[in-house]
Amino acid sequence: MKRLGLLVCLTVGFSASVFAKGDAQAGEELVTSKGCIACHGADGNSPLDIYPSIAGQHAEYIAKQLRDLKLGGETAGTEGRYDPVMSSQAAMLNEQEMLDLAAFLASQEAKPGTTPEDVVEKGGQLYRGGDLDRGITACIACHGPRGNGLGLAGFPDISGQKAAYLKSQLERFKAGTRANDLNGMMRDIAAKLTDEDIEILSQYLGGLH
Ligand code: HEC
Ligand code: HEC
Repeated sequence: MKRLGLLVCLTVGFSASVFAKGDAQAGEELVTSKGCIACHGADGNSPLDIYPSIAGQHAEYIAKQLRDLKLGGETAGTEGRYDPVMSSQAAMLNEQEMLDLAAFLASQEAKPGTTPEDVVEKGGQLYRGGDLDRGITACIACHGPRGNGLGLAGFPDISGQKAAYLKSQLERFKAGTRANDLNGMMRDIAAKLTDEDIEILSQYLGGLH
């Protein structure tokens, strides 16, 4: 196992303050009272590989996903983002609660993950260079050199994320069953990834930070 870089505590506090409408303290209480803690942990660092870690994620992205997941439940998956487990969780939340939860979770520090040695090279190539012949845009173009994304542009932080979760999302984008990406940005790319690419990238991102 290899750590790909040093954990840099970047602008978590800054992005939370730009996104002024959420109250982080109220959000902290909601994590417990709404039961998020059971699957995502008290600080958003999920204990299991199937549950995404949301600690330190951009507040704008978190709030968008909660809105999209709620909409997906209300429209039987024809709009927004649908997941049988998470859409019913999002259904309990109003707009202010979503903003409060987003503000709190964004202010938390993500626990760093690791990248297995055998995917460092291939994963790094695809991540940083894409594949011109196959028309795959490099992930770095939107998610940044360390996978931290860009909150105001809607690009999520994908570094340190759980491999099983990443794999499921890339597969869903590829199949078009997750279709809440603006202009099909992620679907276009995922459609060109092979199962092997998806496997490699899902494991690669853990240690990228
Ligand atoms: C029973 C387990 C469970 C509970 C409780 C739960 N979640 Fe989730 N959450 C999930 C799963 C599973 C996913 C992944 C859904 C998918 O694959 O699309 C998810 C996804 C998310 C995402 C999207 C993450 C991303 O990177 O796109 C956010 C944000 C989120 N949950 C926030 C919350 C909040 C806030 C609460 C409390 C109101 C909560 N969750 C309660 C299981 C849970
Ligand atoms: C053109 C910009 C762009 C490029 C290039 C791009 N992404 Fe994304 N990606 C996005 C956006 C935007 C989203 C969030 C969509 C949404 O709002 O739900 C996203 C979401 C994701 C997610 C889901 C994150 C989560 O927490 O659920 C994963 C995983 C991901 N991208 C991986 C990749 C990988 C791997 C590559 C390279 C092969 C890549 N992306 C290239 C824009 C991009």
